[in-house]
Order: sequence, then C-alpha cells, then structure tokens
Amino acid sequence: MKPTPHIEAKNKDEIAKTVLMPGDPLRAKFIADTFLEDVKQFNSVRNVLGYTGTYKGRRISVMASGMGMPSIGIYSYELYKFYDVENIIRIGSCGGYTPKVELYDVILAKDVWSESSYAKVQNGYESDVIEGTPELNQRLIKYANELEIPMHIERIHSSDVFYRENFEEYKEIYEKHGCVAVEMEAFALFHNARVLGKNAACLLTVSDNLTTQEATTSEERQNAFTNMMKIALEMAE
Ligand code: HPA
Repeated sequence: MKPTPHIEAKNKDEIAKTVLMPGDPLRAKFIADTFLEDVKQFNSVRNVLGYTGTYKGRRISVMASGMGMPSIGIYSYELYKFYDVENIIRIGSCGGYTPKVELYDVILAKDVWSESSYAKVQNGYESDVIEGTPELNQRLIKYANELEIPMHIERIHSSDVFYRENFEEYKEIYEKHGCVAVEMEAFALFHNARVLGKNAACLLTVSDNLTTQEATTSEERQNAFTNMMKIALEMAE
C-alpha cells in the first residue's frame, strides 16, 4: 500500500489492531521504551511517533495524536480507514471541572459533550454528544477492577479552546451538561469511530483542576500516568 499523507508505514501489518493514543509524541516513545518489547517504529512524519511492540506477549501499537480535534481527527481517520485499525484508546490528560475528580484520578469517558463543529462538518452529524464504544468500555472497566485501580466513569467535555477568555464558563458546562473534566480530542475520535464502524475509548488522568487551580508539572505527569497506561495496555491482543 501507499503510505498516507501523515503516516509512513508501508504495510498494514506494521500497525496492531489496537492503538493507544497519547497526545504527546514523547509520551508515545516513553510507553514503547518502558512497557513494550520487540518494538518497531512505524512513524516519524512530523515527529508524530508511532511504535508497535508486545505487552505480556500480546501485540499493541502506540502513536501520538497531537493536540486538538483537527489533529486526532486526521491520525485516527487514517489508522482506521487505511491501516485497518479496529480499536483506538486515547490516553490523555484533562482538567477537572469539579473537586470530585482529584489530581491523578483516572477517568473513563462514558460519553463526551462538545460545542465543536467537527462532527457536523465531517458528515452532518447534529448531536453534541457522542458515546465511546460500550464493548471497549466494558473491557477497560474489567481491567481496572482486576488491577484494583479506581476509575471514574463519567461524561467529559471536548473543547477547541484551551485559553478561554472567561474561564469561569466551565461551571455552566459542568452544571448544564454534566461534564466532570475537559480535554481536547475525544469528540473527534469517537465521531470517526462511529462513521467508520470502528471502536474508540478515552482514558484520562486528571492533570489540573479548574475549581482548585491545582496543577501538576510535566515531569510529575509522566510518572503519574502509569496507572492509566497499565489499564490501557491490557487491551493488547
Ligand atoms: N483544558 C483543556 N485540555 C486539558 C486541560 C484543560 O484545562 N488540562 C489537560 N488537558
């Protein structure tokens, strides 16, 4: 096959059926270096690093999404449509909208609310809520239970804007739509999965909280994300 505009792998079998997607390319590298064996790199276009390896003897890939819905929209579409990827699990960070979700807590996005035009522009989808794939969520819940890692299962907000002029608007989004945290990618990922008949899920670690203004450093985040990664890595097949 011909490589896609953004992924240089020449064969579909260079990429596993399940891909974990952190936003940050160096986090993708960290996961491959730390958790995977027999690792082969399959992408470096624009430094969006992608690797395939094994975890406990089972195959899995990890590739960065970049930040924001346009970026994850491109990479997830190409993986699903041209590389026959079946499952994408986003593993990201989020900002808490309520003290109920504390720093370093793990959240599974049951569904996602967004004011983004991504889905409407992509195929005319009108709703502002999209679900993750229930079967993937059931598996992730089972793995979290087995690993005894507590996990919130909640609605989240996918935002196009990190720096809102009026940051207090988060209170209304929490109250009106029930979103417990904000990130910037899940809505486009879930939409692409639905459109292409594939599966998607989103696991998040709370990296900051808008109600308390607490935040973590990038170094602390790297380490604290291990719990979330352990759950996601069990998806290897
Ligand atoms: N806003 C959007 N995305 C995020 C945040 C945030 O506060 N924290 C981590 N990802």
